[in-house]
Amino acid sequence: MHYSGSVNIRISKIEPSSPIKNTSLLEYCLIPPMLTLGIETSCDDTGVAVLRNGDQLLSNVLSSQDRIHSPFGGIVPELASRKHLEMIDPIVDKALRDACVSLNDINLISVTQGPGLIGSLLVGFSYAKALSFAAGIPFIGVDHMCGHLLSIYLEEDKPSFPYIALIISGGNSSLFLAEGYNDFTLLGRTRDDAAGEAFDKVAKLLGFDYPGGPIISKLADQGQRCIQFPRAWLGQDSLDFSFSGLKTAVLNYCNREKQRGNDLNNNDICASFQEAVAEVLVKKTITAAEKYQIDTIVLGGGVSANPRIRNMMAHRCRQTGKALFLPRPSYCTDNGAMIAIAGFYQYQKIDMPYDTDVYSRSPLG
Ligand code: KG4
Repeated sequence: MHYSGSVNIRISKIEPSSPIKNTSLLEYCLIPPMLTLGIETSCDDTGVAVLRNGDQLLSNVLSSQDRIHSPFGGIVPELASRKHLEMIDPIVDKALRDACVSLNDINLISVTQGPGLIGSLLVGFSYAKALSFAAGIPFIGVDHMCGHLLSIYLEEDKPSFPYIALIISGGNSSLFLAEGYNDFTLLGRTRDDAAGEAFDKVAKLLGFDYPGGPIISKLADQGQRCIQFPRAWLGQDSLDFSFSGLKTAVLNYCNREKQRGNDLNNNDICASFQEAVAEVLVKKTITAAEKYQIDTIVLGGGVSANPRIRNMMAHRCRQTGKALFLPRPSYCTDNGAMIAIAGFYQYQKIDMPYDTDVYSRSPLG
């Protein structure tokens, strides 16, 4: 049994920025702050953060389950929800302690409502409802995609609307037109595997652990982009993605080389595969920006931590005169801070009814 009962807490770096930035000292002392507790349990990480007003992160705690799922080559939903159940209470306590606040100081509980694994979502969502009911604090369920779409606002350098957002994670590869904190239009999405899923599946077929994305990106650094894997453009103007053919092409390439008695050069395979993913993501994002005449591009989601994708996007943005906003890697992957910020901006002073439920598929697309 690979299920580990040990506490595995990784603490994300807390913003070093001054909490009185853009606020006079007098205002800072006199205006009561709005404190949001953000809870994220949509997949395999238990993330909790405390956010002061819209942009001052007081704590950001993450309990990663990578070690539990790694031997299986992917997430085991039952193990994920059990681990969330075990971790949620200690992680909330730690986030409050790190922020030097108590539950009484919290004004809003923001929690991921979907999309994700139902069992995992239910742990965080039920916990947030119970905490809200018991402590008399309003709660709001937010879409996980909105968290990724707004995570850039955790950074000091913030974009103005409108912007084109490329959200690439283990479950999604989507392009959005963002016109306000609550105003996102889906422009394109994956028709099969998400970009992160493709990274993880290719890693698995090469014999690497889960999550495969960071491993592939490290090996790719030492390889040559010399293997021509296919790029799925899906028609000249299409803003949709498809990565399952690429994954199959990598599998076929490996089988062919083995049949010929050749050793596989994993570094070259990783570099060539990563290049094929990056090229499609970057080209379609620039196409979307040009089509909708938008000068600002934002990335989000775990795969946007990939250095090659970030560099290629930065290069193309410089060439085409677009401003690029990249959250730091720890804000790209799942975390409680992005859920706190999404809740802060979406909270309409209406308490969510307690019979609201979680959902596995995002209405955003
Ligand atoms: O956003 P995220 O933390 O969770 C989901 O909501 O899916 O993204 C996790 C995904 C995994 O598929 C992981 O392999 C991928 O992001 N990932 C990366 C990198 N870091 C994480 N993929 C490519 N390169 C990376 N450096």
